[in-house]
Amino acid sequence: MKKIFISETLSKIGKKIELFGWVNSVRSHGKLIFFDLRDRSGIIQCVVLKNASAFEKSLKLREEMVIRVRGKIQKRDEKLFNPKILTGEIEVIVEDIQILSEAKTLPIPIDSDGYEINEEIRLKYRYLDLKRERLQKNLVNRHRLILFIRNWLSQRGFIEVETPILTKSTPEGARDYLVPSRLHKGKFYALPQSPQQYKQLLMVSGIERYFQIARCFRDEDPRGDRQPEFTQLDIEMSFIEKEDILKLIEKLFIEIVEKLYPQKKITSIPFPRLTYQEAIEKFKSDKPDLRKNKNDLNELAFCFVVDFPMFEILEDGNLNPMHHPFTQPKLKNDEFNKEIVIDKLRNEPLSLLSEQYDFVCNGYEIGGGSIRTIDKEILIEVFKTLGHKEKDLYQKFGHLLEAFDYGVPPHGGIAPGIDRILMILENEPNIREVIAFPKTGEGRDLMMNSPSEVNDIQLKELGIEIENKN
Ligand code: AMO
Repeated sequence: MKKIFISETLSKIGKKIELFGWVNSVRSHGKLIFFDLRDRSGIIQCVVLKNASAFEKSLKLREEMVIRVRGKIQKRDEKLFNPKILTGEIEVIVEDIQILSEAKTLPIPIDSDGYEINEEIRLKYRYLDLKRERLQKNLVNRHRLILFIRNWLSQRGFIEVETPILTKSTPEGARDYLVPSRLHKGKFYALPQSPQQYKQLLMVSGIERYFQIARCFRDEDPRGDRQPEFTQLDIEMSFIEKEDILKLIEKLFIEIVEKLYPQKKITSIPFPRLTYQEAIEKFKSDKPDLRKNKNDLNELAFCFVVDFPMFEILEDGNLNPMHHPFTQPKLKNDEFNKEIVIDKLRNEPLSLLSEQYDFVCNGYEIGGGSIRTIDKEILIEVFKTLGHKEKDLYQKFGHLLEAFDYGVPPHGGIAPGIDRILMILENEPNIREVIAFPKTGEGRDLMMNSPSEVNDIQLKELGIEIENKN
């Protein structure tokens, strides 16, 4: 097993070591061969003297070969220090080299930040593209962010619960990805657009404080800040009010910035809270960019937008929930009166506000959530307002409606999008740069070549016939 990383060699001056990694570059000086060895942690200069037994082998070294190097760490002459790398004051005097894998010339350069390279080629060779220092940093920082969040929430009594991927449609406003069932021909699972209904059911189960680093799937056209599959920090809590959730998220994000991105500064603490109406009137947007200096890459202007309308009218004339149907409707005067709410749902639904809140940063919606309706009659009325037939409701949402008959605590939650947050924190132009294996704008994975056709036997087993293969 590899025992040390290159970053650990600084404490090994005068000692014999064994390193594993990739040849970053080779320079021949006749009597001496210099090469840089790279691993995940950094780069170190290796020197092969003409009389060393490894000299012959070192003549075969090419960039990106995978090798094992044995040798001794030595301090460099002060005149030869290289301040650009962490190990710039030392080098390896090579005694032995073993080539573990040859490497062809790479189809894309990996020593730049990569923005200048055609993205389709980068995505086709994503496993090489990911060698790039910038993308390695993004992956490490993604890991650090998720680890920080997991620990932070665990310390506050939250537990992470995994919910199914093969499930049933949860309305979040996009199309579902469907998975045909072999055992139940003609029936389909849906991939979750979010764990919304499961997390609410977990509140009925008495979990009280749930979170999940949850993969979500939405069949919508990808954009710079949108992917067909993405990751949410999904949170749900019982016995709370809106302000509790907003405070929790505010505290979490202040600490994320302090601990992981100390070079960044937050424009206003506490995070400003704007009503939807104020945001639209003042900024003509429900995701206002409140930065003082939009050119400052280190400025983070978080805010919450609250008091959204419960419904909106879509272009096709249909009524749509601004968030999702499980959100608690409320009256404009902030009072809660069940009879009046039901009357408005029936007669003037567009006059209702809701307990939805959006979490916004630098002009991006980075999270959304709400206090949920736990009154079954109101929930049924919301579904009916949205055009669901009463007789179909139990078939579609029976699990939730029935669960609410057995004691449901007041609850609410939020789901910040991990990819969008990282895109902003890493100053990246789109979320593909912070996802290991993203899809293209047309929803394709160019490396795996998916979506792809399946063979006739598989289709037959699923009872599926393709109408027009072209
Ligand atoms: P919502 O639909 O607002 O809420 O999504 C929450 C957050 O998820 C991120 N997001 C996306 N990120 C990348 N690609 C996408 N296609 C994409 N779609 C959404 C955004 C967004 O703010 N179940 C509710 C949450 C709740 O009510 O608790 C939900 O999913 O950052």
